[in-house]
Amino acid sequence: MPGDARPIGIFDSGVGGLTVYRALRARLPRESFIYLGDTARIPYGTRSPETVRRYAREDAAFLVGQGVKLIVIACNTASSLALELLQDECPAPVIGVIEPGARAAVAATRLGNIGVIGTEATIASAAYPRAILAIAPDLRVQARSCPLFVPLAEEGWATHPVTTAVAAEYLAPLRQAEVDTLVLGCTHYPVLAAAIQQAMGEGVTLVDSGACAAQEVAAALERQAACAPPDALPMVTRFFVTDAGERFRRVAELCLGEPVTRLETAQVEPSP
Ligand code: DGL
Repeated sequence: MPGDARPIGIFDSGVGGLTVYRALRARLPRESFIYLGDTARIPYGTRSPETVRRYAREDAAFLVGQGVKLIVIACNTASSLALELLQDECPAPVIGVIEPGARAAVAATRLGNIGVIGTEATIASAAYPRAILAIAPDLRVQARSCPLFVPLAEEGWATHPVTTAVAAEYLAPLRQAEVDTLVLGCTHYPVLAAAIQQAMGEGVTLVDSGACAAQEVAAALERQAACAPPDALPMVTRFFVTDAGERFRRVAELCLGEPVTRLETAQVEPSP
């Protein structure tokens, strides 16, 4: 089987998608990756659907220009609003994080009561409830946006008392609603998993949609016979940002626990 040694492209609004990159790399150690963080335009989660779609289209076009074989939309906001658009327009297959997360939540729920948290744009899009109810129409889904979680995660305050207090405040309605499974519907939330678990209680299953997407990518590559050849040596990951590379490098190295050696500035072209 010859395989396909071209890299997998991943994009996010910034550094948060590294949680998805980490899961992909752990699941697919022979693959090469190109990561684009649109650090000049983060956050996506507070923007209009039209703007998020435009940004996502430009990010995907950049990755296509780099010769990727498949695109992973690590950003939940962009996955919520732009997956179909990119699947229609891109010459490469495109995988988002919403459906994998929804499927995992449906598999995990014991009482049929699922909570979803994400950015304002992700929650307003109702993409997660739609995906969950498309699989299992009888389930109950409660959704809540948690906008302060992104800056708290970027600040590295995973276990800070402020984060504990914010998590308790945001998650109280979901706790009262007795959800038994909670989808972490944002790239940054796995970083705060301990605080979120504490606020929800030990009995609640947390679903990391980025990690679930890694399984989906592996399955898609196998289906398309597009896995890297068995003897392939993965290239060192190329990271691209649209601004503030040194900040990205600092946070990325903390998150990945290793040096980021190939970091470049991307020229993302405006879409027509
Ligand atoms: N990456 C975004 C997401 O997963 C969070 C950060 C942002 O708002 O851009 O929704």
